[in-house]
Amino acid sequence: MLTDTAKIILDLDTGIDDTLALSYVLASPDAELIGITGTYGNVVVDHGVSNDLRLLAMYGREDIPVFKGIDHPSTAESFAVPPDSEIFHGANGTGNAEIPAQTDRQAESRSSVDFIIESVRKYPKGELTIVPTGALTTIAAVLEQAPDIVDKIRIVLMGGSLTQPGNVGPFAEANINQDPEAANAVFASGADITMVGLDVTTQVLMTKDDTKALRETGTPVGKFLADMTDYYIGISEQEDGDNYQGGCNLHDPLAAAVAIDPTLVTTLATNLMVETEGPQRGRTIGDPSRILQEPKTTKVALTVEAQRFHTQFMDRLLNLAKASK
Ligand code: BDR
Ligand code: CA
Repeated sequence: MLTDTAKIILDLDTGIDDTLALSYVLASPDAELIGITGTYGNVVVDHGVSNDLRLLAMYGREDIPVFKGIDHPSTAESFAVPPDSEIFHGANGTGNAEIPAQTDRQAESRSSVDFIIESVRKYPKGELTIVPTGALTTIAAVLEQAPDIVDKIRIVLMGGSLTQPGNVGPFAEANINQDPEAANAVFASGADITMVGLDVTTQVLMTKDDTKALRETGTPVGKFLADMTDYYIGISEQEDGDNYQGGCNLHDPLAAAVAIDPTLVTTLATNLMVETEGPQRGRTIGDPSRILQEPKTTKVALTVEAQRFHTQFMDRLLNLAKASK
């Protein structure tokens, strides 16, 4: 029997907005985080996983397992953090704010790929959602190694853009751009995917009023979240130029929220592909060779109830910060 609680695996490159997504899921009474898998992007895998372990210690949730994912793009031998990612997320991934907790806990010895495959097989269809918020290399490996789960897996990913320019170039969004070949394989797999891309994530913001409210909780967690997000707001103002809208984009938290409550967005069903060649490398676009193919397996989020999301996001984060020690 399906339950009302959404089981979630977060595949994070932790990351400021990844940290906010993790916080949101932990703060959501209608979600159960069954594990974190670490990918690369804003930081290297080891660094992201270390951040995840410390964040879980900070929240008193060391019961949640953390797994390491594949640490470099499918077409490269290694990965180094792009300069822009370090500018946006700080060298430590949390905007140079120090996570107020340490831990001796290590990542599990099993790989992210194995954990995701086993989890999809374990739970009834529709009960578990995988939420990738970084490079899609691990998810592509999952679908390649276990094609039998393609009809069962549900993916709600942060990445891509259909109606907006890219954020690392005219066409490409950062997460897709880390490994366009892997992202293309994921979209081509036929799996049930909801793409929460720049079309909607640029419409949801966190402002200085929000960080002030977090700071006023008076808790170390509230202060940490406020310091970290103030960094992100400041760097967005500095880097976004005329596109700055008065706050930072809540990219990854919106994907997590849509995984829990799909009614936050409306979507366009299509068969998507990722350009892997030429100047449009990394672009997410409808696949002309599958234009008539049914069912159309990717739902692209195009509108969002931004105010409803923002209210829910801040209510939950404030409760989490207040309840922390
Ligand atoms: C995405 O790229 C990363 O920098 C963010 O964490 C987010 O997942 C936005 O394009
Ligand atoms: Ca991310």
